[in-house]
Amino acid sequence: MILPIRAYGDPVLKKMAQDIEPGHTGLKQLIADMFETMYAANGVGLAAPQIGQSVRLFIVDASPFAEDEDGKPTKDTHLKDFKKVFINPYIVEEEGEEWPFEEGCLSIPNIREEVFRKPKIVLQYQDEKFREFEEEFDGFAARVIQHEHDHLDGILFTDHLPPLRRRLLNGKLRDITRGNTDAKYKMRFPPVK
Ligand code: NI
Repeated sequence: MILPIRAYGDPVLKKMAQDIEPGHTGLKQLIADMFETMYAANGVGLAAPQIGQSVRLFIVDASPFAEDEDGKPTKDTHLKDFKKVFINPYIVEEEGEEWPFEEGCLSIPNIREEVFRKPKIVLQYQDEKFREFEEEFDGFAARVIQHEHDHLDGILFTDHLPPLRRRLLNGKLRDITRGNTDAKYKMRFPPVK
């Protein structure tokens, strides 16, 4: 089932998400629904708070980046297996010199901004069977994980922008919160105050 994606300004996006216990009711369906929702919106990653569930879970599928439009392998060909479910993920290490990349977010449609992050991370997480992993990621994979991991701590990419850049976006962000956006997928906007 495709779920509406919560828009910028929804309080759930600012909350610290809770750990998930094995046996969490409806987890399998939630994961299936999140994949369906992400694909319908052409996203590369989706965190549970974005569909209104404040739990530590995000999914990614960067495999489309492993091929160009003609189906030929790109330099990111190692991303072809980067389709994953991350449960209770925690970044335990980040290193290297910060590099810029234009990020977007399904909760903030039609806005892309350069965000600086470190290139290499070590992530502890569990998979959908609650098997434990500690794994190193770098490049684009690390970037996607850092962005999604932030969602679980109530942080959005706009929170990383320099204050002036952020101020210039305020009007557009307010519009999104009020539902004045032409996102091509189903969204849910916070009640008008
Ligand atoms: Ni996002």
